Amino acid sequence: MDGSSAPVTAPVLILLGPPGAGKGTQARMLEDKFGLVQLSTGDLLRAAVKQGTEAGQKARAVMDSGGLVSDDIVISILRDRLGDPDTARGVILDGFPRTTPQAEALERLLAERDQKIDAAISLEVDESEMVTRISGRFSCADCGEGYHDTFKAPQVEGVCDVCAGTKMTRRADDTPETVSSRLAAYHAQTAPLVRYYDARGALHRIPAMGTISDVATRLDAIVKGTRG
Ligand code: AP5
Repeated sequence: MDGSSAPVTAPVLILLGPPGAGKGTQARMLEDKFGLVQLSTGDLLRAAVKQGTEAGQKARAVMDSGGLVSDDIVISILRDRLGDPDTARGVILDGFPRTTPQAEALERLLAERDQKIDAAISLEVDESEMVTRISGRFSCADCGEGYHDTFKAPQVEGVCDVCAGTKMTRRADDTPETVSSRLAAYHAQTAPLVRYYDARGALHRIPAMGTISDVATRLDAIVKGTRG
């Protein structure tokens, strides 16, 4: 050894899983614990819809119907976000990729940065549990902290634990009809990515039933393992 340390590349983690599996909840916890940056294409698209950008206008109707937004739009949004300096700390991809073309595009984007995927973690939940989780979900309109009517209520009803905001919001696509379309899109277009990452030796499957903290403990062990 000459005393110089090997270059540390920023970790790239993917959270795979159906709607309501807990991807967003766990990604935000990993951000806090490991200093990584959550990249949620759902959040990026909702921001584009709110801002009324061209991409947002095209995405809106598709998201409301529970289908998948076109690969071109989503890849372009993710490429832009990956160019922001904070992503150099390492990223947790939440809700991307969702199709094989998106997975292939991600590999190309990472290769341009001399990066690779460290782990693709599949959160596995029963279908009835997803519906229960989604139907009770709400979040703080100011800081985005996520809550659940039963499983993660704020300590003081109606007041955000993180920013003390008092405006809570529910997602437009969390209706029973849209949830069944989102699940169908997951099975048809996203579930094949489990095999895709398994074939590349990057896949970790974890049971995502149990409490938020049970699932977090399982995830932490994997993330620590990727850091040597
Ligand atoms: P997106 O925002 O990504 O939604 P999703 O994948 O359907 O996932 P969710 O956000 O519903 O669930 P989650 O797994 O994050 O669960 P959460 O942690 O919130 O995408 C929305 C739409 O955008 C898509 O339908 C599509 O149109 C479009 N889109 C996005 N990305 C795209 C892409 N790459 N390509 C094309 N289109 C794209 O948890 C849910 C609730 O359960 C919360 O209330 C939480 O508190 C609670 N909870 C979590 N874990 C637990 C637990 N262990 N026990 C009890 N409760 C729990």
